[in-house]
Amino acid sequence: MSHPIRIAPSLLACDFAHLADELQRAEKAGADWHHVDVMDGNFVPNLSIGPPVVQAIRASGQIPLDVHLMITEPKKWADIYAKAGADVLTFHYEAAKDDFPATLEAYRATGCVVGVAVNPPCGVEPLRDYLDQIDMILVMSVHAGFGGQSFMPEVLDKVRQLRAWGYSGDIQIDGGVTDQTAPACIEAGANVLVAGTYLFRSVDMALAMRAMRVS
Ligand code: DX5
Ligand code: ZN
Repeated sequence: MSHPIRIAPSLLACDFAHLADELQRAEKAGADWHHVDVMDGNFVPNLSIGPPVVQAIRASGQIPLDVHLMITEPKKWADIYAKAGADVLTFHYEAAKDDFPATLEAYRATGCVVGVAVNPPCGVEPLRDYLDQIDMILVMSVHAGFGGQSFMPEVLDKVRQLRAWGYSGDIQIDGGVTDQTAPACIEAGANVLVAGTYLFRSVDMALAMRAMRVS
């Protein structure tokens, strides 16, 4: 089973005053998806962007939008972010666990590629019965909420566990991913790598991205 490696620069680390230029910089460097972090100041102790900015990114960007929702009550927001232009739409299991089947159904009904995210303390066991309905599992390698944190290698056990169960969807890693930490992620079975600080703070993003793919 081999999955194409995809790189998704996290716009959280970009220069928001020049958003269109930053989208272009990421695309020219070879990005596969734009990773868009939506934070509500409630599920996570940080606030970022909402539907109008997702819409603006949709209008300006040329590659798929991978929208990572770090919000409470995600079921309420599925249609709104789908309409704003998400191609891949990911909600957190922890935010939905009391209403998980219905939340998953609401996301499936949008027609987006559906992702489910877990923070470092949350195991993947609760997802096991639903694997055939989840297109992508986002294994957070930092605690969701902020860019620039250090990679937590222990979360890769969850990636190995998912592949051992035969999960054939995409597995995304998000948080502290660099050319140094990418190889272990890929080795464990992840195939979508999100990187914010490492890519947007690089002098040559194309080179930095290549280093993630080949290292
Ligand atoms: C954290 C976000 C990440 C973050 C990654 O809550 O989900 O996407 O921007 O940033 P880096 O790559 O700087 O850890
Ligand atoms: Zn993210």
